[in-house]
Amino acid sequence: MKFLAITNVFLTIILFSSTLGAHFRFTNFKCISLDPEFAVVKECILKMVRRSVVGINFHIAIKYSQPINKIEFNLSIFRKSNMYRLFLVNHTIDFCYYMRRPEQYPIFYMFHDSLMAATNANHSCPYTEKDIYVKKMTFNDKTLKDLLSFLPVGEYKLVVSVGAFGVWRLQVNLFGVRD
Ligand SMILES: *[C@@H]1O[C@H](CO)[C@@H](O)[C@H](O)[C@H]1NC(C)=O
Ligand SMILES: *[C@@H]1O[C@H](CO)[C@@H](O)[C@H](O)[C@H]1NC(C)=O
Ligand SMILES: *[C@@H]1O[C@H](CO)[C@@H](O)[C@H](O)[C@H]1NC(C)=O
Repeated sequence: MKFLAITNVFLTIILFSSTLGAHFRFTNFKCISLDPEFAVVKECILKMVRRSVVGINFHIAIKYSQPINKIEFNLSIFRKSNMYRLFLVNHTIDFCYYMRRPEQYPIFYMFHDSLMAATNANHSCPYTEKDIYVKKMTFNDKTLKDLLSFLPVGEYKLVVSVGAFGVWRLQVNLFGVRD
């Protein structure tokens, strides 16, 4: 009995520390405006948030003069093996619909709280802001737990394409390593 109990504690510690040890770190971040008359990238960098943790910093200036109430949002996850190959999803959602019922899309919802905590675009449509930013965004515990549950060790690229009124306007590429 005693032996079992100790083994259990031991196993728990090993499992726990391996979950804690496994993590996902951002290595590069690139943003491309596909339509500078619609949106201009002002900032797109990874910055140190705390020791050994970098966060996403992103700022776009919207040049479009009307409120934006039609947004397409597309996520693809690539894994590197010589080159980046599509690993998971490649899915376009109606972002305005999504923001009203985010839990309906688990793959996108996985990132929801991490993103909403860091952006001023944390509300439903329409968007009237002339500046949209993301500041010091990191993946919170829930995002990491969900993400790490199905991502094998490796190098990844997450590509988010954002469209408005049916035209792709912006592409954001986040590179990271799961180790
Ligand atoms: C994603 O899906 C679209 C439409 O089905 C396709 O045209 C595109 O090539 C796919 N992207 C990748 C990276 O496979
Ligand atoms: C995802 O977005 C890209 C634009 O970057 C587009 O070419 C592709 O068709 C989209 N995928 C789907 C499934 O709509
Ligand atoms: C959205 O973020 C701003 C700070 O950027 C905050 O003041 C506001 O309360 C947030 N709104 C919601 C609905 O979380």
